[in-house]
Amino acid sequence: MAKVLEVKDLVTKFYTLDGVVHAVNGVSFDLDEGETLAIVGESGCGKSVTMLSLLGLIPSPPGKVERGNAFFSGGTGRCDLLQLAAPELRDVRGGQIGFVFQDPISSLNPILTVGEQIAESLTRHLGLTREQAHRRAIKLLEEVGIPEAAQRYDSYPHHFSGGMRQRVMIAIAISCSPSIIIADEPTTALDVTVQAQIVDLFKRLRDMIGMAIIWITHDLGVVAGLAERVLVMYGGRVAEVALVDDLYERPQHPYTHGLLGALPRIDTDGSRRLVSIDGTPPDLLIPLVRCPFAPRCAYAFERCWEEIPQLMPAGIQHQVACFYDIERGGPRSG
Ligand SMILES: Nc1ncnc2c1ncn2[C@@H]1O[C@H](COP(=O)(O)OP(=O)(O)O)[C@@H](O)[C@H]1O
Ligand SMILES: [Mg+2]
Repeated sequence: MAKVLEVKDLVTKFYTLDGVVHAVNGVSFDLDEGETLAIVGESGCGKSVTMLSLLGLIPSPPGKVERGNAFFSGGTGRCDLLQLAAPELRDVRGGQIGFVFQDPISSLNPILTVGEQIAESLTRHLGLTREQAHRRAIKLLEEVGIPEAAQRYDSYPHHFSGGMRQRVMIAIAISCSPSIIIADEPTTALDVTVQAQIVDLFKRLRDMIGMAIIWITHDLGVVAGLAERVLVMYGGRVAEVALVDDLYERPQHPYTHGLLGALPRIDTDGSRRLVSIDGTPPDLLIPLVRCPFAPRCAYAFERCWEEIPQLMPAGIQHQVACFYDIERGGPRSG
């Protein structure tokens, strides 16, 4: 399977008044064409900063992408997103790579109609005329399930509910038939029935367009029915990556065990959230010199306090960054 994205050793920091925040500390992963990859991990572990780094959307200052490559193979050949000049990256972003964020209110422009915002993407990226873009935008509104799309074209974002606004964001994200959609907690702000509808919409559009999806989430319940692979992040690093079933059946990282071990907590809104694990998340103001999970880990031994574990093979399409082999009950060989 051809790779549409290869991220290698991404490092992003924020130079704040309190010190340097080591948000992303050497993240590597790749994404196959048409594949759905879920990224899970506690709040603050670097999921959003990783994606914003790829899209060139890190606020600078205080942020800086310090190291890494992100090879994207789109319609126009292979390029390193982290090396592209701003105008080229703007062409890719919103064109070949679509994105949907958690909060559709701040992502949409309040003074343009929803139709104009979709049409604007089409004229900018695909060079359609105003009339062509108008027609295509109505079609897109229909595709994302907005009733009476022709009339709704002229509505402003504040006329729409949260779920409808997210549908508009999705229409913009798919408007140019992207190779990848990055969806950063796209259902977190929505109520539970609307969440399920949005997940179904993504599945339908994926089948229609064939794009790859990076789906960032807290809700492990959604992951199983949507993603092929799961990547678990901790402390700005990849802790484990595996096929979904394999991850559920044979979690290898003690942190993943923690995430899956207890029954998911059902929130008052009915959504399943990551259960909390004893101890506190790592202080990202301290540079990483050892396993970030060691202070919370029941299995940590000397090596974990002295060295940063790299991803190691742990099965077919399964990798883990841990020196301890849970299955064998001892240090991992190699
Ligand atoms: N603009 C910013 N300035 C300073 N620190 C930031 C900024 N954006 C994110 N961070 C820090 O980077 C770390 C990773 O954040 P983020 O990627 O948003 O986590 P999440 O996994 O919840 O998406 C956090 O410690 C966060 O506080
Ligand atoms: Mg986030």
